[in-house]
Amino acid sequence: MGDCKSKGTYYITTPIYYPSDNLHIGHTYCTVMADAMARFKRATGYDVRFLTGTDEHGQKIQDKANQAGVTPQAYVDNVVDGIKKLWKTMEISNDDFIRTTEPRHMKRVQKIWEKLCENGDIYKGKYEGMYCTPCETFWTESQLKDGCCPDCGRPVQKASEEAYFFKLSAYADKLLKLYEERPDFLWPETRKNEMISFINQGLEDLCVSRTTFDWGIPVPNDPKHVMYVWVDALSNYITALGYPDEPELYEKYWPATHLVGKEIMRFHGIIWPAMLMSAGLPLPKQIIGHGWLLIDGGKMSKSKGNVVDPVVLIERYGIDALKYFLLREYTFGQDGAFTNEVLLKRINFDLANDLGNLVSRTVSMIEKYCGGYIPGSIEAKDAEGKALDEELKAIATGAAAKVEEQMDKYAFNMALEEIWIVVRRANKYIDETAPWVLAKDPAAKERLDGVMHNLAECLRIVSVLIQPFMHTTSKNIRKQLGIWYAEPEWDDASVFDMLEGDQVKKGDPIFPRLDIEKELAELEAFKTKNEPENIPLELKDPIEFDDFEKLDLRVGKIVEAEKHPKADKLLVFQVKMGTETRQIISGVAEYFKPEDLVGKSVVVVANLKPRNLRGLESKGMILYAVGDDGDMLVTTDAPDGIPVM
Ligand code: ME8
Repeated sequence: MGDCKSKGTYYITTPIYYPSDNLHIGHTYCTVMADAMARFKRATGYDVRFLTGTDEHGQKIQDKANQAGVTPQAYVDNVVDGIKKLWKTMEISNDDFIRTTEPRHMKRVQKIWEKLCENGDIYKGKYEGMYCTPCETFWTESQLKDGCCPDCGRPVQKASEEAYFFKLSAYADKLLKLYEERPDFLWPETRKNEMISFINQGLEDLCVSRTTFDWGIPVPNDPKHVMYVWVDALSNYITALGYPDEPELYEKYWPATHLVGKEIMRFHGIIWPAMLMSAGLPLPKQIIGHGWLLIDGGKMSKSKGNVVDPVVLIERYGIDALKYFLLREYTFGQDGAFTNEVLLKRINFDLANDLGNLVSRTVSMIEKYCGGYIPGSIEAKDAEGKALDEELKAIATGAAAKVEEQMDKYAFNMALEEIWIVVRRANKYIDETAPWVLAKDPAAKERLDGVMHNLAECLRIVSVLIQPFMHTTSKNIRKQLGIWYAEPEWDDASVFDMLEGDQVKKGDPIFPRLDIEKELAELEAFKTKNEPENIPLELKDPIEFDDFEKLDLRVGKIVEAEKHPKADKLLVFQVKMGTETRQIISGVAEYFKPEDLVGKSVVVVANLKPRNLRGLESKGMILYAVGDDGDMLVTTDAPDGIPVM
């Protein structure tokens, strides 16, 4: 290993996930990437610390617990148990798991808060804005999209509260300078550009406390307030290292490389560095924003019943198959579509065919032609054989450096592709050298042994290279090669001719071939069986009956509909109620074509105060119901024959 063990420390983190529900394949994706990177860095000589955990405070969790009729703590304890089990099943190699409800975290966050106060960056003020409950985020009017939350698209409510603010606005220039001085700070480039343009639109101070719920860390000396969930959550990356009161690990491992999904890049790329600057602490090494796994073209959602459960896939296909698929199929910084079919094809083509065949053919032939013992290196006698062997060796021993190069770019898929180049080349070598032909000619015994040695060497190298990504398969291959007694060392992948005399032992196929049609049908049937049942809806706060009684609901008929001349999102309707025809404007242009609504009978809130919307008056409101996830609207059609009044 030479001086490989002196490369220094490497600290990698995943987001701490919300334990509002069980995790799905999207969360698994990020954790698998972080695990692969952690294992790769360990293998290549770094002293690694790998952190994951859960983000357990906030209104969303409090609401979930209320709906379930349990305390927030009991609710999160239960979900977190499942999350820890999942990572254990998946053999995720995290060194620590931080929960934001742990005393070690809570007391340290309070100290960090005090530090920001001491530096004059936290002040008390009054917040007025539009609040999105599911996202726990206040938005300004100008940030809203069609009057709704720009992140999740759900309706927002006007809210006002006394609150503490963090002077984020004071950090705009410093952040821009940081991105300029450290071009790799944010990755990939596209995300960096998004951050720059966000800052250039003007950074406002950040509201960092809430009084509207109490499931959070109390603000020091003002416990009526709890901390805004992001200040609490982001701090986990240093509180888990013992900062500030037990700083040993912090001093050793900080700063970190943070892996996060693209939707939380802004929190990590803007708020977190600003908080650290304020606290006078070193900034993260790098923030890596990965893309999303999409299902049916969109995000996974419980109510659509299209959430992919990693446990089902692991039970059917194994941990390494799932890890390989996630690592190989997607380009890390970009979105990618998840389908069962691409998963099954990857397993069959790359794992069962390419790797599985190489293992079983090599081991079987060594058993058959060499009495089960790996022969030592024997140089080919003929020029053609020599050239062939040299090429094979060069590809096999050159792969480690290429894998390293790809991993430096977070190109997990290309790193695996580099390994599969070796696998495929070795399979081709079998066809080119045709050992079964050599075996018929006693004079070719030496060449046969040389070929078998070379194949065993390629497999050994592959077993070293895949170790960070699929360590169980690596072990399995080494067992079949009879070298189970030695831990794979990364540098061994750049050396040929290590094996001689080890006794191979054929095992079961490492990845049995799947009947894709059958698997697809079974996965589909499984999905139907597991269709979610009776999950309580996520709703706004309850209203009183008296409030409801104030509404004057009437049935009206839409007699005209057209686009608003000055606003793309708005439709302008003429609605007949009784003898009155009045104008009502709705922000529904993205859901309906105006002509499709003409002639519909709809329910109208007739006594809503008139409003001016981009120069046109709107008198009343047509009722629409939100579909799944708020991503569509339906009119509440009154049946034909109901008199319009
Ligand atoms: O945002 N594809 O937690 P969270 C890929 N608690 N990755 C996905 C994904 C998908 N479809 N869905 C989720 C939070 N992820 C905060 C984080 S950190 C201080 C606080 C992954 O449970 C992705 O990494 O909503 C994303 O950023 C993360 O899960 C969000 O998890």
